Amino acid sequence: MRRESSIHGQWSSKLVFILAATGSAVGLGNIWRFPYIAGENGGGAFVLIYLACILLIGLPIMMAEITLGRRGRQSPINTMATLSREEGLHRAWGFVGWLGVAAGFIILSYYSVIAGWSLSYVFRAAGGAFAGLDADGVRGMFNALVSDPERLLAWHTLFMIMNVLVVARGVRSGLEKAVKFLMPALFGLLLLVGYSMSQGHFMEGVSFLFKPDWSEVSGDTILLAMGQAFFTLSLGMGAIMIYGSYLSSRASILKTSATVVSADTAVALLAGLAIFPIVFASGLAPGEGPGLIFITLPMAFAEMPGGLLFGTLFFLLLVTAAWTSSISLMEPAVAWLVENRGFDRPMAAVIVGGIAWFLGLGTILSFSLWSNPIGFSLTIGGEATFIGGTLFEMADYLTSNIMLPLGGLLIALFVGWRMTQRSVEDELDLHSRVLFKAWYYVLRFAAPVGILLIFLKAVNLI
Ligand code: PFF
Repeated sequence: MRRESSIHGQWSSKLVFILAATGSAVGLGNIWRFPYIAGENGGGAFVLIYLACILLIGLPIMMAEITLGRRGRQSPINTMATLSREEGLHRAWGFVGWLGVAAGFIILSYYSVIAGWSLSYVFRAAGGAFAGLDADGVRGMFNALVSDPERLLAWHTLFMIMNVLVVARGVRSGLEKAVKFLMPALFGLLLLVGYSMSQGHFMEGVSFLFKPDWSEVSGDTILLAMGQAFFTLSLGMGAIMIYGSYLSSRASILKTSATVVSADTAVALLAGLAIFPIVFASGLAPGEGPGLIFITLPMAFAEMPGGLLFGTLFFLLLVTAAWTSSISLMEPAVAWLVENRGFDRPMAAVIVGGIAWFLGLGTILSFSLWSNPIGFSLTIGGEATFIGGTLFEMADYLTSNIMLPLGGLLIALFVGWRMTQRSVEDELDLHSRVLFKAWYYVLRFAAPVGILLIFLKAVNLI
């Protein structure tokens, strides 16, 4: 059954949906996570596998997720339950919605802490704190910040409040207003790339990002690349699904998805092109870890003319990008609380923000008091591997590399194999048989088989 609208409201146009979905997709994942994970995993080969995952797995699953959301027009938990009932399927499919809500809480908990680092850097940049610092100086500044739990807590709290304030106001006057106002600002990121290109080490950066060294690739690298594809596109946890539930029935799901995916990929590659030339120019190592952009960029800003202004602007943009993403992390759980528990939106937003805020304490302490990894050693095929890490590392690994791809796999199976082709065609409304067939084939075979093979490869089963 086609539904015309959701009780939570609707985007006022297709363009607003594109802004909102791009706002969700473009965030810390592109500017903070992509460069540091690519840096830790040897660059080129990782990037090419990531791009392949975006195209073959990400794009078709994004279309499937929007299709589900628009057909169900409720929170992902209720959308999955309603559509299963309508299609005569087992209630257990509601699990996909619950898995997503759980992933949303875990991601938001650490996402807000990292956004807090960025907030703190806005003020450092504006106060001229980077001036005259060398590599050791900026690293020292970063280490001093992350090892100070009280300061991290304050920034984390502030960022979470910013999110609650937007989500509490609802779809039209909260989410829509925020993305309309904030998204145009993101184009400012281009400025930094321009500067980076003039730095001389640009070609070294390009070759690091695009020249593959296949000998470096292991099962885990492939899993990380797929996890990054899911994370960066906000897929597999219902964020894009719920944004789709506020989309008009007339909008083209193919065109909007293609636009969001292209914009997101462009921003990630631009961020890489901006950061690696600076890494090589300053003799830093690409495998610096989660602090990569917080260590490389201040050095560039310290030296460049107008660095004070550009530095402040850059970290402001980073906070902006993080903000339009984290509101989408909250929305599935908030909508569910409103639908099923009778809370009004502001209360629901406070509850979701509060839980994620509390979970975030685990990430804050992962850089100081709880920085010793926890876990166990497992011997597979005579080779001992340590499984575990800090709470932050575990939260990140579990969500990006396991929960989101698993959610995506289940979505592909549900739309590709369990819903009737008629319902899917009716909602997706592609106007082209050939395109529908191609998409349906990729969703039924290529994407699920790809995800499964990558899972099996990562645990050394193939
Ligand atoms: N896509 C966001 C980023 O790249 O920063 C992170 C994210 C948002 C992941 C929403 C998942 C999600 F549902």
